[in-house]
Amino acid sequence: MRSIAVYPGSFDPPTNGHCDIIKRSSKLFDKLIVAVAENPAKKYFFSVEERIAMLREIVREYDNIEVTHFEGLLVEYADTIGAVTIIRGLRALSDFEYEFELALMNRHLNSNVDTIFMMTDEHYSFIRSSLVREVARLGGDISDKVPPVVERYLKERFSQK
Ligand code: COA
Repeated sequence: MRSIAVYPGSFDPPTNGHCDIIKRSSKLFDKLIVAVAENPAKKYFFSVEERIAMLREIVREYDNIEVTHFEGLLVEYADTIGAVTIIRGLRALSDFEYEFELALMNRHLNSNVDTIFMMTDEHYSFIRSSLVREVARLGGDISDKVPPVVERYLKERFSQK
């Protein structure tokens, strides 16, 4: 049986921290689905199509990684794609409480799906999408915080404003 894991997130935009988790976790499973969350109640900076396009370019050379999007409950989506593992990254202690609640709720909703946490590489522990957007908006250097494709999208977006 092939092992399938899902790595969900907003990826608004994807950062080097996300990429680190994607690449490392893809080695542990036959297939990794990077699932871009589309929550109609949430306002995103990049559209779901843009977030998918950035991620697809990032994982282009990886045969066992797919990028898609999902709406609704994550555990239901995991069921539809045959994934029994959810991957989440932990950057610091401050992530723990939120992630703990998320994992417990997901297990209550579907006990067949388990969450595995990966420690983010220490270089990326302070990076988050909204901070990267803020630095880019103010013209700061983000080249060591996001992949080139994301830097390009951010530059294009802010040059239009
Ligand atoms: N490196 C860098 N940054 C990271 C990171 C990593 N490894 N892991 C998380 N982050 C940052 C993100 O950049 C983001 O930063 P921001 O707040 O500045 O935008 C923040 O941490 C949260 O990121 P993300 O991993 O995308 O989580 P999320 O909270 O946006 O999404 C879902 C969580 C989509 C997994 C969750 O809401 C979900 O499952 N939704 C579906 C509906 C559902 O099933 N709900 C019930 C769940 S119990």
